[in-house]
Amino acid sequence: MITVNTLDAFLLLHAGFMIIGFLSMVMGASAAMFMRRKAWWFRFHKGAGFFGTYCILAGVVASVSMIALSAGEHFRITHHYVGLITAAVGVCTLLLGIVQFKVKDQAARIRSIHRWSGRFTLLMAFVAVGSGLLIIL
Ligand code: HEM
Ligand code: HEM
Repeated sequence: MITVNTLDAFLLLHAGFMIIGFLSMVMGASAAMFMRRKAWWFRFHKGAGFFGTYCILAGVVASVSMIALSAGEHFRITHHYVGLITAAVGVCTLLLGIVQFKVKDQAARIRSIHRWSGRFTLLMAFVAVGSGLLIIL
C-alpha cells in the first residue's frame, strides 16, 4: 500500500535533487565567469555541469514517480512545464558544452550558443526552484 510517507520521501528526493543540481550548476557557471584565471576552472565547470544535470534528471524521475504513485495528473500546472523545460535546456547545454570540442570548424558558434543556453538554464532552474517551493510553502 502507498502511504503518505512514501510520497513525502519522493517529494524530499525531488526537492533535494533539484536544489543540489541548481546550486551545482550555479557554482560551475560561476567558475566559468569569475575563475577563468585559475587553472582548475574548466575541470570544475565541466564536473559541476555534469553533476548538476544528473541531479536534475534524477529529480525529474522522482517527481514523475511521485505524481504517478499519487495517481495525480502529469504536466498540469506551470511548475511542471517550467521544470520540464529546465531539464531539457540543461541537457542541451551539457551536450553543446561537449560538442564544441568535437566539431572543430563550428566551435566558436557552438561555444557562443552554449554560453547563452547556460545562462538560460540557470534562469529556468531558478524559476523552477522558486515555483516548486511556492507549491509546498
Ligand atoms: C548544464 C551544464 C552547464 C552549464 C549550465 C554551463 C554554463 C555555462 C555558462 C553560463 C558559460 C558562460 C560563462 C560566461 O559568461 O563567461 C559557460 C562557458 C563554458 N562552458 Fe559551460 N556549462 C555547462 C556544461 C559544460 C560542459 C559539460 C562543458 C565541456 C565539456 C562546458 C564548457 C564550457 C566552455 C569551454 C565555456 C567557455 C566558453 C567561452 O570561451 O566563453 N560547459 N558554460
Ligand atoms: C530545478 C528545479 C526543479 C525542476 C526542474 C522541477 C521539475 C518538476 C517536474 C517536471 C514536475 C512534474 C512531473 C510530472 O508532471 O510528472 C514537478 C512536480 C513537482 N515539483 Fe518540482 N522541480 C523543481 C524544483 C522543485 C522544488 C524546489 C520543489 C519544492 C519542494 C518542487 C516541488 C514539486 C511538487 C510538489 C511537484 C508535484 C506537484 C503536483 O502534485 O502536481 N519542485 N517538478
